[in-house]
Amino acid sequence: MAVRLIKSIPEMQSEAESLRLAGKRIGFVPTMGYLHEGHLSLVRLARERADVVVVSIFVNPTQFGPNEDYDRYPRDLDRDLRLAEEAGADIVFNPSVEDMYPQPYHTYVLVEKLTEPLCGASRPNFFRGVTTVVTKLFHIVKPHFAVFGQKDAQQAIVIQQMVRDLNFDLDIVVAPIVREEDGLALSSRNTYLNPQERQDALVLYRALQKARQLIDGGERSSEVILREMRKIVESVPSSRIDYISIVDAETLQDLRELRGDVLIALAVWIGQTRLIDNMILRGLR
Ligand code: PAF
Repeated sequence: MAVRLIKSIPEMQSEAESLRLAGKRIGFVPTMGYLHEGHLSLVRLARERADVVVVSIFVNPTQFGPNEDYDRYPRDLDRDLRLAEEAGADIVFNPSVEDMYPQPYHTYVLVEKLTEPLCGASRPNFFRGVTTVVTKLFHIVKPHFAVFGQKDAQQAIVIQQMVRDLNFDLDIVVAPIVREEDGLALSSRNTYLNPQERQDALVLYRALQKARQLIDGGERSSEVILREMRKIVESVPSSRIDYISIVDAETLQDLRELRGDVLIALAVWIGQTRLIDNMILRGLR
C-alpha cells in the first residue's frame, strides 16, 4: 500500500484517534529525514510490532544551536517517502515549522541532570529541543510505542526518563546501531564528509573497538581505557575531540572503574562535522 503523506497536525491527530478507536496499534519512528539504513531499521522494527507505522520527518529548529547546521541539514522528502514506504511505513507525518512552533511559542520540556553531561555539555539547548518536539509529536501521533536508535544513546536515555517522569502512556523501544561495513555508524551527517574525512571518521569506531578489546582483556580502569581511545582518535589530524566518556548507563555519571551497565560514548569533530558513536556493556564485574 502506498505511504500516506500527512502535513496537517489536526489531520494527523484525528487519524491517530480513529486508528486507536479501531483498536489499531500505532508504532512511531520520529526522524529528521534524509533517511538512511539506520532509520529504516527502526521502521522495519516498528513494522514487526505495529498495525500502523507512522514516521515523522521534521528538521526540528529548537534542537540546533545558533551556529549549528540547521540550514544545511540535508532534506529530500521525495526520496524519504519512497524509502519509508519500502521499509513498511504507512504514514509519513511532515509538519511545517510554522505549524509546530506557532508564534508566540513559549513552552518547553526539560529533563534535568541527564541532559547536562556528554552532548548536553557542548550543545546546551539540544535536549530541551529534542524533548519538546518529541513530546509534541507524541501528543500528535498518539503512538502505543516509539522507536529510537541507540546511536543517540543519551537521547534514548533522556526520552525514557521523560516518559517515566511525565507518565506518557507508551513504550520506548531502543534499536541497535547500524554500521557501514567498515564500522562507521550511519548518520545523516556522514554526507558532509569528503573522502579523506570519511576515512578519518573510522577513528570513532576504532576507539570503541580498542576499548572493547581492553575490557575483554580484563581492564576496568576508565583512565587507562580513555587514554588509549584518545590516542587513536588523535592519530588523525582532521579530528578534534568534543568528549570521550565512560559513564554509568543509567545515571550518565562518570565512572572511575567499569562496573555494572556502562556506556562508552564519544563525540568527535572530523573537519567541520561532529560525529557521535557509543557502545553499551551490561553487567560488567
Ligand atoms: O534523533 C533524531 O533524529 C531527533 O533528535 C528526533 C528524535 C527526531 C527529534 O527531532
